[in-house]
Amino acid sequence: MAGGGSASAGDLVKAGAAGVAADIDAAFDRLLAVPDDARARLYEAMRHAAIGGGKRLRPLLVRAASDLFNISRDSALRVGLAIECIHVYSLIHDDLPAMDDDDMRRGKPTVHKMFDEATAILAGDCLHDLAFEVLTDEETHPDPFVRVELVKALALASGPVGMAGGQMMDLEAEKARFDLATVTRLQNLKTGALIAFCVEAAAIMARLPYEARTRLHGYARDIGLAFQIADDLLDVEGDAALAGKALGKDAAAGKETFVSLLGVEPARERAHMLVEQAKAHLHGYGAEADLLRAIADYIVERDR
Ligand code: IPE
Ligand code: IPE
Ligand code: MG
Ligand code: MG
Ligand code: MG
Repeated sequence: MAGGGSASAGDLVKAGAAGVAADIDAAFDRLLAVPDDARARLYEAMRHAAIGGGKRLRPLLVRAASDLFNISRDSALRVGLAIECIHVYSLIHDDLPAMDDDDMRRGKPTVHKMFDEATAILAGDCLHDLAFEVLTDEETHPDPFVRVELVKALALASGPVGMAGGQMMDLEAEKARFDLATVTRLQNLKTGALIAFCVEAAAIMARLPYEARTRLHGYARDIGLAFQIADDLLDVEGDAALAGKALGKDAAAGKETFVSLLGVEPARERAHMLVEQAKAHLHGYGAEADLLRAIADYIVERDR
């Protein structure tokens, strides 16, 4: 998906993501020490899915948004860890035979292939739970009111008015004929809600009044939609080895996406338009928002 953004956006994002990825891997390694009892397989499955893979874009987004408000790197990392728990859980379940039935994820066998379906379901459940355990720990933020707000926001972003609701619509999109407005809502729930949480979490930690969050909300909504359009474009024209997962699945399943509705080029144009719009929402910010701008560019330039 080359073209469109500044030449260095990818490099800036990759450098930031590499640092965040190392921190996230270390945190998962610490939290998921394998017990010497009959639960070992569950922990092994969680480690297989959570450690060593993925772009870690969501934790990077939390860090980038947190940098606007001088929020501590430790708090941003723990919120990034929580969102990555939910994200990885959603991927484990998304790959199950009952959903997308995929064999490869992040360049490795999916959890149900490496282990078995029951273990994959439980590993997903436990990562979901771990997200809230992390958020409610006072190490995440000293203010209990902030922690409760983070929990509420992540719960909303994950459940029926967020990711899980979008996944339901996504399954229906294989059978029903959805129009553009419905596919937009599907994508906003399935992918946008968790991405928006990353930015919202920084506003919550900064105790930013709700009416002062409009620009950030606009940015988050636009990059969330652009992100899923890019995923759908990669599904059509990406390289499976780079993506680390099987591609060509949406058309094979007869799934309605932006690409199926608009065609490849108009979908790409829309993604670029959304990225420009996302960056326009940041006009009031200075250099402290450069990483957020680079992330927006990277979202449509990425090849994985
Ligand atoms: C893939 O997300 C699933 C979608 C929401 C489209 P990512 O593309 O962020 O996957 P990883 O984390 O890099 O593996
Ligand atoms: C999955 O969307 C989104 C979630 C897990 C919430 P996709 O099914 O398009 O993601 P990939 O393409 O398998 O990564
Ligand atoms: Mg899916
Ligand atoms: Mg899938
Ligand atoms: Mg996809």
